[in-house]
Amino acid sequence: MSERIKILQRQIFKTDPLVVLGGSVRLLGEKRLEMYAGLVSEKLAHHPNTMLQYSPPEIFKAMIDRRSVVITNPRTGNLLAFAQVWKYGSNDGRDIYEFGSWSAYKDDEYKNGNGRLALLAGPILVREIDPSAQAIAIVEKTNKKAQKIITDFGGIEIEGEWSPYLRTVEGETAYMKKFDITMRGGEENVSSKRNTTTA
Ligand SMILES: CC(C)(COP(=O)(O)OP(=O)(O)OC[C@H]1O[C@@H](n2cnc3c(N)ncnc32)[C@H](O)[C@@H]1OP(=O)(O)O)[C@@H](O)C(=O)NCCC(=O)NCCS
Repeated sequence: MSERIKILQRQIFKTDPLVVLGGSVRLLGEKRLEMYAGLVSEKLAHHPNTMLQYSPPEIFKAMIDRRSVVITNPRTGNLLAFAQVWKYGSNDGRDIYEFGSWSAYKDDEYKNGNGRLALLAGPILVREIDPSAQAIAIVEKTNKKAQKIITDFGGIEIEGEWSPYLRTVEGETAYMKKFDITMRGGEENVSSKRNTTTA
């Protein structure tokens, strides 16, 4: 078993912090999810030029539709990190899912590593939705922190340094890097334990 798989397993099957993804997210209860959806939407609004904007109901829908990763403090219920995936396109009949709305939230107890954990769960979530799909993450060229986490994880930059994928909001252009974060051959066993609250 590769070191990467061991790391994925060790980190994803966690209750402390609590990591839930896909269908398990609903178990957190609608009231809590609505509250988290508000926080996520608010956070996205702080990055209008580089992150796609989603309203609280849209974030909530991703949660209910089994397309999200939610990481919380198990004692306080505070949101620590979030991500959702959505269908981005397809290539030669293979669907591509984008991992996005990737965000971490301040917490006195869990200061570091929450964003990293959400990224580890992302490819597992995509695999749960469609085992043959490609998972990608699109990051602003200057977002060194996000890029470091992705490359540490083994994400592979695709389409060169200057990706043609530009995001424009209110006239501002954002130059993005695109990474492949799909689970690799041999990592399939990780996703077989999905869909439990303690996943
Ligand atoms: C990106 C984000 C999700 C990361 O989550 P996080 O919980 O802050 O990150 P983690 O604590 O898991 O990991 C941070 C890592 O980045 C490193 N880092 C921090 N600042 C950095 C910088 N300026 N350049 C490079 N690496 C940096 C840290 O050293 C740490 O690595 P280490 O564990 O090896 O020390 C979070 O910062 C966030 O919400 N950002 C705003 C939204 C955003 O930009 N989302 C990504 C859009 S694609």
